[in-house]
Amino acid sequence: MKLQGKVAVVTGAAKRVGRAIAGALAQRGARLAIHYNRSRREAQRLADEIKTTYDREAVLFKADLSNAGQVRKLGQAVLRRFGDVHVLVHSASAYERTPFEKAEIEDWDAHLETNLRAPFFLSQTLGPAMKKAGEGKIIHLADWAAKRPYIDYIPYCVSKAGLLCLNAALAKALAPEVQVNAVLPGPVLLPEGTSPKLREAIRQATPVKRLGNPEDVVRAVLFLIEGSDFVTGAELAVDGGRLIA
Ligand SMILES: NC(=O)c1ccc[n+]([C@@H]2O[C@H](COP(=O)([O-])OP(=O)(O)OC[C@H]3O[C@@H](n4cnc5c(N)ncnc54)[C@H](OP(=O)(O)O)[C@@H]3O)[C@@H](O)[C@H]2O)c1
Repeated sequence: MKLQGKVAVVTGAAKRVGRAIAGALAQRGARLAIHYNRSRREAQRLADEIKTTYDREAVLFKADLSNAGQVRKLGQAVLRRFGDVHVLVHSASAYERTPFEKAEIEDWDAHLETNLRAPFFLSQTLGPAMKKAGEGKIIHLADWAAKRPYIDYIPYCVSKAGLLCLNAALAKALAPEVQVNAVLPGPVLLPEGTSPKLREAIRQATPVKRLGNPEDVVRAVLFLIEGSDFVTGAELAVDGGRLIA
């Protein structure tokens, strides 16, 4: 699918990896629905940048994805504003440290609601419009840790493992017009405040001996959107080989 003139929704687009993806889609000619929750200022800055640099439409949409009602309204608002939608990138994610002994019910709810239930209901709202348009791409940002879970992040890892099942299920549910794929990043952008020692340990544990960066993820996303219409239900690890280490 060519991105030129298409409507693309990116969740969690105000910062970090989501921002890099949104910018790249705009650069390739997409009209952007920029979803954010708390980072309004950063989202506005991105929209302004997209308009000035690429002369593309970039519209902000706020929603708390842990709230199913707001997820549905987000999809409906995008359709009202653009009339059409062709690309949906689920990048927003809750990511909290929840050690095994201390994880609470609220921790489970927060991770499953935002990382798993929200992608389902957003795709349920937007998927039919993509089918009607005759083509569509949905990309789930999962995590290599969906397959190699960290014990201090069990609700997060389980939410991402569930997202891989959703990825396969939606690939079947929305075929043949819509291709649905997952990218499994490894360490591409560590949380702010990660110590140099931990950063170096992660680099050493990564077979290609470097940390990734958002551009590594962007290239994978662009391939899944523009590079092939014959890939669906796939899981693409962009992890420097961590899964096979
Ligand atoms: N960074 C990495 O190295 C890495 C590694 C493996 C997997 N991944 C995956 O790749 C994706 C992007 O990574 P990232 O590091 O850029 O993500 P991130 O910074 O942890 O989070 C991205 C955005 O998610 C949004 N978000 C969180 N809770 C939300 C909620 N309840 N409702 C709406 N939005 C919510 C936030 O938006 P606001 O700021 O607007 O509130 C946040 O800016 C994520 O799915 C992540 O799990 C990343």
